Amino acid sequence: MTRKILVIGGAGFIGSHLVDDLVALGHEVIVYDSLEPQVHGNITKQPNYLSEDIKFIKNDIRNKEALVEILNDVEVVFHLAAMVGVAQSMYQIDKYVDVNVLGTARFLDILVNNAHDIKKLIVASSMSTYGEGAYKCSSCGEISPKLRNTAQLEKGVWELNCPICGKKAVPIPTNEEKPQDCTSIYALTKKEQEKMSLLIGETYGIDTTALRLFNVYGSRQALSNPYTGVCAIFSSSLLSNNAPTIYEDGNQSRDFIHVKDICQAFLLSMEKEQARNEVFNVGTANPISIKEIAEILAKLINPNITPIFTNQFRPGDIRHCFSDISKISSNLGFKPQYTFEVGMKELVEWVKTQKDIALDKSATAIKQLKEKGLLK
Ligand SMILES: NC(=O)c1ccc[n+]([C@@H]2O[C@H](COP(=O)([O-])OP(=O)(O)OC[C@H]3O[C@@H](n4cnc5c(N)ncnc54)[C@H](O)[C@@H]3O)[C@@H](O)[C@H]2O)c1
Ligand SMILES: [Zn+2]
Repeated sequence: MTRKILVIGGAGFIGSHLVDDLVALGHEVIVYDSLEPQVHGNITKQPNYLSEDIKFIKNDIRNKEALVEILNDVEVVFHLAAMVGVAQSMYQIDKYVDVNVLGTARFLDILVNNAHDIKKLIVASSMSTYGEGAYKCSSCGEISPKLRNTAQLEKGVWELNCPICGKKAVPIPTNEEKPQDCTSIYALTKKEQEKMSLLIGETYGIDTTALRLFNVYGSRQALSNPYTGVCAIFSSSLLSNNAPTIYEDGNQSRDFIHVKDICQAFLLSMEKEQARNEVFNVGTANPISIKEIAEILAKLINPNITPIFTNQFRPGDIRHCFSDISKISSNLGFKPQYTFEVGMKELVEWVKTQKDIALDKSATAIKQLKEKGLLK
């Protein structure tokens, strides 16, 4: 069935891939996006990679009047608009809360107070809302340790211990029941986006789904934005003949998922009744270390370069978090299709086409973090 669908933040990395899939399925798609300069540079029209078979509106999610105008007959809304830099959010507090929280509030306000035909809302939440992932202790069982403190990190003790008995804490898959324990303003704003959307959805009978995305990689992730996406940051350094900088000892791990697998989860959430008013993790369930990522990317993009280990750290960084995807697998039939090898090869093919436009701004970002005491 063809539907009229609005994708807020649809000009971005994940949104644009989702738009491709929606167009291919024959839906009528409107993309509403402010073209945030940090992501898109100074363009005023839709980015070249975005499908031509859509209606594009350049505007801000906080502009209620402009949003109201385009909602006629829209049945489904995907909300992906956000400022997305975790560390940056710790010194641009006002902007992150304004765009991510107030922006979402403005949109939800329309759902409640204006006439519309929206029946389904899907919001992009984040694994960052968990803080540290789940761990277990051989004596105490499943545990949820807090962030490592600065004194520990200054000694180069990177791994976590059990908060109850002090034994080594072993990372295990994180499921949706793990309490959310946000350790950045960005994470807090993502949690607010998720909670506000589900609350309003449930209260007013609008079918709402929140997807907690793990670390997404793939083509079109802004190589010029040094504040987000470790694959994109490492890739742009390597393209510019600079060594990627690895914090801690590189053995910290994350769950990297290909953007097309994320799209699969968005589409299932739109189609399946079982997604109604639910939260799902979207990851691969496989942890990969940051060191491995840097080494693989270096080998594939610029083999002459070896990543630098600085033993520096960012207070507030988590050590390990990878997904338990049993809920979305059993409820929606989600199954990631991309192996890490295939996904990385595809990413690198795209990265190489960006050689002339990619700008390695990581040095500027590192300088800013140091000035603010966010990198030690
Ligand atoms: N990339 C990841 O690893 C990841 C992980 C978890 C969650 N997410 C979430 O997924 C969503 C998409 O992220 P992405 O990686 O594609 O980032 P992105 O920066 O490429 O896309 C975000 C889009 O939102 C737009 N935007 C920003 N502020 C806006 C505003 N005020 N009004 C309208 N549009 C605005 C930007 O111009 C951009 O096109 C975000 O909500 C992000 O928090 C991403
Ligand atoms: Zn213990």
